[in-house]
Amino acid sequence: MMHSLSPRLRGLLMAAHGVPVVLRPSDEAPDVTLTAGGDGSLEAPETPIDLPAVIRVVSGDEQRTVRAEVLPGAVPVLDPRDRGAASAASRSAVVAGRVALVTGGAQGFGEEIVRALHASGAWVYIADLNTDGATALADELGERATAVAVNVADEDSVAAMARVVVDTTGGLDLVISNAGIARAGSVLEQPLAEFALSTDVNYVAFFLVTKHLGRILRDQHAGGPGWLTDIIQINSKSGLRGSNRNGAYAGSKFGGIGLVQSFALELVEHGVKVNAICPGNFLDGPLWSDPVKGLFVQYWKSGKVPGAKSVDDVRRHYEAQVPMRRGTFGADVMRAVYYLVEQAYETGQALPVTGGQVMLSS
Ligand SMILES: NC(=O)c1ccc[n+]([C@@H]2O[C@H](COP(=O)([O-])OP(=O)(O)OC[C@H]3O[C@@H](n4cnc5c(N)ncnc54)[C@H](O)[C@@H]3O)[C@@H](O)[C@H]2O)c1
Repeated sequence: MMHSLSPRLRGLLMAAHGVPVVLRPSDEAPDVTLTAGGDGSLEAPETPIDLPAVIRVVSGDEQRTVRAEVLPGAVPVLDPRDRGAASAASRSAVVAGRVALVTGGAQGFGEEIVRALHASGAWVYIADLNTDGATALADELGERATAVAVNVADEDSVAAMARVVVDTTGGLDLVISNAGIARAGSVLEQPLAEFALSTDVNYVAFFLVTKHLGRILRDQHAGGPGWLTDIIQINSKSGLRGSNRNGAYAGSKFGGIGLVQSFALELVEHGVKVNAICPGNFLDGPLWSDPVKGLFVQYWKSGKVPGAKSVDDVRRHYEAQVPMRRGTFGADVMRAVYYLVEQAYETGQALPVTGGQVMLSS
């Protein structure tokens, strides 16, 4: 029992202060005495304990005294449930001052990525078919945010976007190929046009974006060979595992991983890293949670989740499939973005961000 008290006290102090704490045995007189419950439980005192502090913990006949302190330079403990991009802030300095472009940046994951990159000090292009949404976001963010109208599935449009980048900032450091669409449907029923649209926006567009923006990265590298740049595709857990009645989507995402690996092999000589991030379901994003068109409402109305009596039941059904019992947040994706930018010795990878729902086996 006594042996578990220090870890419990440490957890209690870290929750109260939000930083890692070290507990060392002490023979000083205690500032505070805490008494453990009969089951070894420990409750936080009503008045938070200022640190450093000498704390005595009493459990039955036994007692232990420790000095609790925060080591110099301790970084705040991340709250994994924090939805804000700030919870990914410990790595965010890697993009400060860099130039980034996010396709599909007007809403959903793209908007979260745009906001986080901008807050971290990057210049951000918000490249989207939804020109009004991209412009409104750029206006809201102000300096260092530029809206670009683009259809990523159209080569002329992507080439024009590349010219805007060169004319506006001279080049760029980070491409986030995020724009994507989901067109679910049975292979026995789905119209070819829907399958083809999904393939064009999720798969062909990544070729076009890499072709036209990759040329800028190549030319920059010719001028300054020491500088590494990044192309990151926002893929999906459906790029790693098949998806029932969703073949158009999963197939386009699997194909995306093939392109990522192949482009990584080719562009390495130009100092370009090419990687994919494979998020789980963004259950709080508009795709799922929109009250009118969202997948929760659609799946509830269509009876896709057997026994679901409400939209909340549908949500719980999807949360229950994740070992970590929640959907993916923008901040989770941002930690992966910062990692990939910071990591100078990795390319061609598909990084799952799924709360344990998909685990790599090879
Ligand atoms: N939402 C999820 O649960 C989820 C999970 C895993 C991966 N993803 C992936 O994340 C990415 C973003 O998804 P989301 O859910 O945020 O989508 P979303 O529908 O909320 O937003 C997509 C954005 O892309 C833009 N867009 C669509 N087609 C475009 C085109 N042809 N040219 C330019 N812009 C275009 C839209 O206008 C919109 O702003 C997609 O690649 C998707 O496959 C999403």
